[in-house]
Amino acid sequence: MLILGLIFTMSSTRFTPGDEADWPEYNGGPDKNHFSALKQINTQNVAQLKVAWTYQSGGADTVKNTTQMQCNPLIIKGVMYGVSAGSQAFALDASSGKELWKTTLNDKTFSMTSRGVSYWSDGKEARIFFGYGAFLYALDAQTGQPIPSFGSNGKINLIDGLKRPGADEYVISNTPPSIYKNILIVGTRVSESATALLGDIRAYDVRTGRKIWTFHTIPRPGEFGYKTWEKQNYKNIGGANNWMGMALDTEKGIVYAPTGSAAFDFYGGNRKGDNLFANCLLALDANTGKRLWHFQTVHHDIWDRDIPAPPNLFTLTQNGQKIDAVSVLSKQGFMFVFDRVSGKPLFPIEERPFPASEIEGEKASLTQPIPLGPEPFTRQSFTEKDVNDFAADRDDIIAQVRQANTGQPFIPLGNKRTLFFPGTDGGAQWGGAAVDENSIMYIPAKENPVYSSLVANPKAEDKQAQKSGKQLYLTYCGACHGENREGNHDGTYPGLQNIAAKYDEPGIRQILAKGRGMMPAMSQLKEAETKAIVGFLFGKNTSIKAPKDQKLSTVPYKHTGYNRWYDRDGYPVSQPPWGTLTAIDLNSGKRLWQVPLGEYPELIAKGIAPTGTDNYGGPAVTAGGILFIAASKDEYIRAFDRETGKILWRAKLPAAGYASPSVYAVNGKQYLVIACGGGKLKTKSGDKYVAFTLP
Ligand code: HEC
Repeated sequence: MLILGLIFTMSSTRFTPGDEADWPEYNGGPDKNHFSALKQINTQNVAQLKVAWTYQSGGADTVKNTTQMQCNPLIIKGVMYGVSAGSQAFALDASSGKELWKTTLNDKTFSMTSRGVSYWSDGKEARIFFGYGAFLYALDAQTGQPIPSFGSNGKINLIDGLKRPGADEYVISNTPPSIYKNILIVGTRVSESATALLGDIRAYDVRTGRKIWTFHTIPRPGEFGYKTWEKQNYKNIGGANNWMGMALDTEKGIVYAPTGSAAFDFYGGNRKGDNLFANCLLALDANTGKRLWHFQTVHHDIWDRDIPAPPNLFTLTQNGQKIDAVSVLSKQGFMFVFDRVSGKPLFPIEERPFPASEIEGEKASLTQPIPLGPEPFTRQSFTEKDVNDFAADRDDIIAQVRQANTGQPFIPLGNKRTLFFPGTDGGAQWGGAAVDENSIMYIPAKENPVYSSLVANPKAEDKQAQKSGKQLYLTYCGACHGENREGNHDGTYPGLQNIAAKYDEPGIRQILAKGRGMMPAMSQLKEAETKAIVGFLFGKNTSIKAPKDQKLSTVPYKHTGYNRWYDRDGYPVSQPPWGTLTAIDLNSGKRLWQVPLGEYPELIAKGIAPTGTDNYGGPAVTAGGILFIAASKDEYIRAFDRETGKILWRAKLPAAGYASPSVYAVNGKQYLVIACGGGKLKTKSGDKYVAFTLP
């Protein structure tokens, strides 16, 4: 069967000899390189790709239009394992899409969007590990049934060992754990509020669920890094968690785990110091959890600049020497590359000074690390000259940019608007980057300006205000319309003191729903909140019940949201491209090419060159010379020539594929499969997986 062109150029255990080729782990393998050595589909024939099968996974809520699927499915010996739009794990025949099993879990737990599952086998039995809300399940890979001898009746509760007074209880594992030998290494997502849980990284026995080690990402007294916090912070600060996944060097026994910022994300006056190991790349001994080295990519993060994706492991050549390397991407469009063993940077990194904070009590870091190589994969600052030429309300936007804090990657938030460019969720995002056998990296990214500011939180004494229309007004509207509804001095933000004379309730609701000029749509408001705010504007003493377990915030400020900045027609206010795909040679650090990722048909029709779109999800690169990626909000999946960035093929998906494709072979035939969940960026929801193959 090997005549079929399944020629494996990399020495790796991930390809079984014979006529099957697996996609054995999230993002393709422990190196997280999204790479397949398959060549049957290549630059010559890719244009002929056809749908092989479609699987309706179940759970799409097309009414609410909120279903998402971010799963990168595994394919092992002809069986595909994934997660449905309704958050159930399933197994399919990977050649036909026929369902073999699907779970019917119904624990009362947090809702979530799963990025996939992990597979383990000792040759006799095989297990699927699946994060379902606050639980991590061990399922029998043959039947999908929970394995009773694991944890408590087949699952462990991730809150065990994390509960503490004053903290909320939100914890999920939505990125699949890494597995080293018989050790399951688990990162978690916790809330981003001031009451977040600790982000400990924990390892469990794959057979029993017994805990093997814990790494404290917020160190305890006596542990390395403790002095980079205030004394009590290990008790009262949370976050610094590994939500984005890890990479594993199976030969060296080292797990590479990135972390996010400490919570609360935008104010750190109650956690003064550099805050190790928040925003770090951690190299840990996979057997013991002992720290080998670390690098902090943002000191004292007050911008939510988490490391957004799993690391990539590859070998690069510098001065004729081969070096095992690990890299992490950043939301700002930088990349950091290190020697995998020593942690030494392989391209220079400079500590550069950045502005101080104007917020009382805050102490921003004086410097931040900026890598001088490889070349950045996005623009990194937004000023007047970066405003989109064809924006409908260009002059207004320019006036706003002039008033905002902008122009560099690290400006602490204050009372007026601070611009993030790239936006708060990247730059690079959770989909991560692919690396091929020549150490060329392919990175999807986006360049959409986002703005935010800080407003005062209610103090403990006026706890009642937390729920009132006035408080909601201060949270959602006050930053622009003024604390006392007075507007600003030049009228760009109108006063709302006599607004009842101008609009009736439906009129105001319309403005909130649709936005107006430079005012964004307030789509984040729940109905009860809208009602309370409108009531407040009309002089009524309205209040709403805060969610049952809502705890009073312990920080003095709130931020005014992750406001993506669009022009009057709904396009990002920045000059295109708004979404990109970039190839970088990791040996030299040089950019090879950059192309837009995605397009708006109506702009193409007007003769505007492809602009790229906002995107979520990662690529897959193959030895057949192809880079496959969906991710864009135009609902296409595309094949790019990996050498030139030229589009060789594209197909419309039933809903946007905000996920990473998997590439595999069964019975000598190569496939690629993508989850089409949509449900983000105002695109429709779906619950289908679509597989493609040659006719
Ligand atoms: C990011 C800044 C910003 C935020 C936040 C914001 N607005 Fe506005 N709002 C504006 C701007 C700018 C305008 C003027 C828009 C125009 O006409 O071009 C406006 C206009 C309005 C108007 C119409 C005023 C008039 O005189 O016609 C109302 C009503 C309003 N906003 C209510 C709200 C409410 C209620 C909230 C909070 C839920 C809110 N806004 C949040 C910036 C903001």
